[in-house]
Amino acid sequence: MFKGFVLGVVAVIVVTAACAYIVLVTGTVPAAANGKPLPLEAWAARTSLRATLAKNAPAGPNPVPLTDANLIAGIGLYGQHCAICHGTAKGDESASPVAKGEYPTPPQLASDGVEDDPEGWTVWKLENGIRWSGMPAWKATLSSEQIWTLALFLKHMDKLPPAAEQAWQQVRN
Ligand code: HEC
Repeated sequence: MFKGFVLGVVAVIVVTAACAYIVLVTGTVPAAANGKPLPLEAWAARTSLRATLAKNAPAGPNPVPLTDANLIAGIGLYGQHCAICHGTAKGDESASPVAKGEYPTPPQLASDGVEDDPEGWTVWKLENGIRWSGMPAWKATLSSEQIWTLALFLKHMDKLPPAAEQAWQQVRN
């Protein structure tokens, strides 16, 4: 009886694995970047990211003080590394050819920003990147201070003091 049950379980696993293999080798799973994510795919990516952030994102507060100079430094880093995918102060209308071709398409942060997110979440995303998307990990190229400086700018992007706002309006991609 027990032996039959075990054999049944093994058979189900083998058939499932064989089906998954056939689905992959027959090209049924989309491999193109110019399609829409499948509903289950988007759900799985979102759920995994939320759970990872809850577990691993560093807690605030931001060690980089909120000053004009630090906001402007964050804007400089953003212009250098991020505007190509996340756009300028013009938001959606500034989406670059790279942004338009990515899968999933990166949010144009002036239109669809992360001001409401805890800064630690943004720091985690910047340090580690986002799997199943074109969001790169920056830990190997930017220092922790630079990453928190970027997070400071992204947190205050929609309410910049005049000197920083002026620098932001000058970013091009
Ligand atoms: C090659 C393109 C690319 C570059 C360069 C890039 N990103 Fe991203 N980024 C993405 C994509 C794609 C996503 C969307 C991931 C997703 O849908 O989960 C993303 C997501 C994000 C998010 C999360 C947005 C949200 O709504 O949760 C933040 C914050 C972010 N990026 C910040 C940055 C910063 C800051 C830089 C520069 C240091 C940067 N990114 C550089 C492609 C890029």
